[in-house]
Amino acid sequence: MISIIAAMSKNNVIGKGNTIPWHITEDYQRTKKLTMGHPIIMGRKNFESISSFKSFKGSDGKKLDKPKTLPGRTNIILSSNSDLETGEGQLANNIESALEIANNSPGSEEIFIFGGASLYNEFIDKADKLYLTVLDHEIEGDIFFPEINDSIWKIEKSQKFVTRVLECEIRYEFRIYVKVV
Ligand SMILES: NC(=O)c1ccc[n+]([C@@H]2O[C@H](COP(=O)([O-])OP(=O)(O)OC[C@H]3O[C@@H](n4cnc5c(N)ncnc54)[C@H](OP(=O)(O)O)[C@@H]3O)[C@@H](O)[C@H]2O)c1
Repeated sequence: MISIIAAMSKNNVIGKGNTIPWHITEDYQRTKKLTMGHPIIMGRKNFESISSFKSFKGSDGKKLDKPKTLPGRTNIILSSNSDLETGEGQLANNIESALEIANNSPGSEEIFIFGGASLYNEFIDKADKLYLTVLDHEIEGDIFFPEINDSIWKIEKSQKFVTRVLECEIRYEFRIYVKVV
């Protein structure tokens, strides 16, 4: 099964300046829990964003000898660059080889598409399930989740939450969509 996992604002923003312009700890933890033990496929730009690729720096600011990957999951990075340094991650040059690596990895019964937008667009027709966190706020950004076609996708489960980020109250909804056709 292929599942997409993403967080977006009310106006479909998922990123700005190659990062995510918000941080909701509970959502980060849910994403970690859902994807742990499963292969995750991500685009090169998303990988650069989450791996501190350009600086190779850890959270303590110290220099790393290789880019960071997310632990406990086979990290598969899609890029046309065959020389890309991916650390513990596995490089795939096309969708077919990404899926082949994922299908031969632990937890392959559910393969997660981890973003960014180019991957969401490429995989939305192949996916069986969407895990979407939708913020009840319009947020400025430069990269968007594709439109969800209501005749193809139905919400199977929805949970509403409120959290506080600094002084702001943030309302968001966690939705699971399944494909109906
Ligand atoms: N809110 C969320 O849930 C969420 C989740 C993930 C990411 N994001 C955000 O999304 C943004 C990044 O998205 P993006 O669309 O700009 O970039 P992306 O999807 O992360 O990466 C795009 C790159 O992936 C490679 N790629 C994609 N499809 C490929 C294919 N079929 N074969 C070979 N290589 C392929 C190419 O790399 P090369 O150019 O090296 O060939 C392409 O330039 C960032 O702002 C990030 O923070 C948000």
